Amino acid sequence: MLRLDGTAASKAVKEQLKQQTLRLEQDGNRAPHLAAVLVGSNGASETYVAGKVKSCGEIGYDSTLVRFDETISEQELLDKIAELNNDDTIDGILVQLPLPKHISEAKVISAVSPLKDVDGFHPISVGRMVQGLETFIPATPYGIMLMLEHYQLETKGKHAVVIGRSNIVGRPMSILLSSNTTYGNCTVTICHSHTHNLKDLCLQGDIIIAALGRAEFVKADMVKPGAIVIDVGITRVMDETAAKGYRIKGDVDYADVSTVAGAISPVPGGVGPMTIAGLMKNTMEAYLRRK
Ligand code: GUN
Repeated sequence: MLRLDGTAASKAVKEQLKQQTLRLEQDGNRAPHLAAVLVGSNGASETYVAGKVKSCGEIGYDSTLVRFDETISEQELLDKIAELNNDDTIDGILVQLPLPKHISEAKVISAVSPLKDVDGFHPISVGRMVQGLETFIPATPYGIMLMLEHYQLETKGKHAVVIGRSNIVGRPMSILLSSNTTYGNCTVTICHSHTHNLKDLCLQGDIIIAALGRAEFVKADMVKPGAIVIDVGITRVMDETAAKGYRIKGDVDYADVSTVAGAISPVPGGVGPMTIAGLMKNTMEAYLRRK
């Protein structure tokens, strides 16, 4: 069984970007610059944004963290995004989701300039991705594609079963895996909460992407022997014996599924670091396109 080590694979991607940034600076250019917007103090969002800002520092990018109290009005947030759109020194903008209920995520996502949309959530970015045009691919699906590439896992003609239909992971993942590209060309089944016979469908998967957000949902009896299993879940499960009072669990029961899978990504240390690698690549791409 191959353990798909996202920490190692993301390190390789980040090292490449670090060297590219150094070369840009040696040629007299400024470094790429990411602006991250965080509203409120959701514990998981704080952790994700801190990881993104830290990675910028590691590879030599500039970063700006814009924090707002969760009482900020929708208009104030939209005004800030307009300011970042117009700031020539900023290449990429990400607004960490989820946002407080009184703010429309759709409005905020559409307010980010498509030229700086390093999260790839803008309807223009999504439309371009569907048509196979140059665009920004959402960081988590992009990171998974980079992981398949890092381990040179053949996907052509395989049956990929994607569990979960979110705009952030499941849906873009289904598009990418079915695209006519090197790590695409799969036959894709997308499953969700209304899917009948989920277990039977999973058993047909040569590749399973688990992105439904339920801790340890995928068990060994749902997985075809030798299948590639990618775990996108990050759920905090309360555990008084853990130092932080909780443990991070994926959507896959790793110990159980690793007895049958051919390859499996762990949580933590799998898709999480690859998401950051995807975001860092998008930020470099935004910088180069704007230059
Ligand atoms: N919330 C969960 N995943 C993501 C992500 O990839 N980007 C942003 N902006 N918010 C998220």
